Amino acid sequence: MSSPLAVESVPPRGERPRVLSGIQPTFQLHLGNYLGALRHWAREQDSFENYFCIVDLHALTVVPDPDVVRNSVLELAALYIACGLEPDRSVIFVQSQVPAHAQLGWILECHTPLGWLERMTQYRAKAGTGRERERAAAGLLTYPCLMAADILLYNADYVPVGDDQRQHVELCRDVAQRVNSLRGDIFRLPEPLIRGTGARVMGLDDPTTKMSKSTALTKPAHAVLLLDPPETVRKKIARATTDADPAVAEPVGPGVANLLDIYAALRSLSREEAFAEFAGTSYGALKSATADAINGALEPVQARYRTIRADEPWLLGVLAESAERAADVADATLLRVQRAVGLR
Ligand code: TYM
Repeated sequence: MSSPLAVESVPPRGERPRVLSGIQPTFQLHLGNYLGALRHWAREQDSFENYFCIVDLHALTVVPDPDVVRNSVLELAALYIACGLEPDRSVIFVQSQVPAHAQLGWILECHTPLGWLERMTQYRAKAGTGRERERAAAGLLTYPCLMAADILLYNADYVPVGDDQRQHVELCRDVAQRVNSLRGDIFRLPEPLIRGTGARVMGLDDPTTKMSKSTALTKPAHAVLLLDPPETVRKKIARATTDADPAVAEPVGPGVANLLDIYAALRSLSREEAFAEFAGTSYGALKSATADAINGALEPVQARYRTIRADEPWLLGVLAESAERAADVADATLLRVQRAVGLR
């Protein structure tokens, strides 16, 4: 029998590698969330053991209205399923329903140097500078520790995300390595899984900045939302920033490159193949084909979404059952960590 003080190490891998990822329920999902993350999760469900989280605790960092959080959680859960995640192949759960996330988050905060957190690009962008930073929520700074807890609790092998989350996954690895070197081999080191096309969708109104939920909230022309009606999609794409050239030609500007990338991702083409299809044609042709490709992908998602939202008891049942399945795994990891740091 092992001593109660011995450090238990990470359990062996199952048959398939495990993935964990999550999205914040702060505002409606946009095309970037879909192309960079959700679409890949759904397509690759058979290759992995899947855990997908609705990260409502993370959403509190921007202090949204409580009703917005409540409604966005259900909206996001329904969108996960409408985009192709299947509850019997993926554990789809709400972060705050598994208390181990917050508990491990605190332990990781205590093992993370402040300097690592202060260097995070997302923190620096969201917390602003000077007086603005003084008033920013402390959770914006410690956020990557909670995200690391999300990942490490499930012994995830891979974290499928868009390019903007690469730095956070790398920080997660650094924190895990630090704890492992201090307390024994308790965490599996996860790797980011970032797919080529669609990993960085840019703003339609400003293709030099990443498409983001917070900008979409104040500037509707910035992003296509997953629940936008087809006519709205068409208008937003028609208004997307391109450049002064009359036709698609090398070298393409950032706005045209963004439309080509969106089109390529939706049609499963490379950027070069998409370019070859439109070389010499007007921007109008590219925009019209891109809007068609988006609407073709979103129409079935929206139809499934409406069906799912019409049966809220079913959705709540899925979330409750999944939270239990998630907690089984998460609680075992938490206990291992608590013992290793001297809490039990
Ligand atoms: P969030 O909610 O900002 O974004 C969710 C997912 O969408 C991807 N994404 C994009 N991909 C391509 N182009 C874009 N313009 C674009 N914008 C967003 C993101 O990379 C992400 O994969 N911190 C995370 C949520 C999180 C998480 C986790 C992720 C919390 N815990 C654990 C993975 C594992 C976030 O804010 O994502």
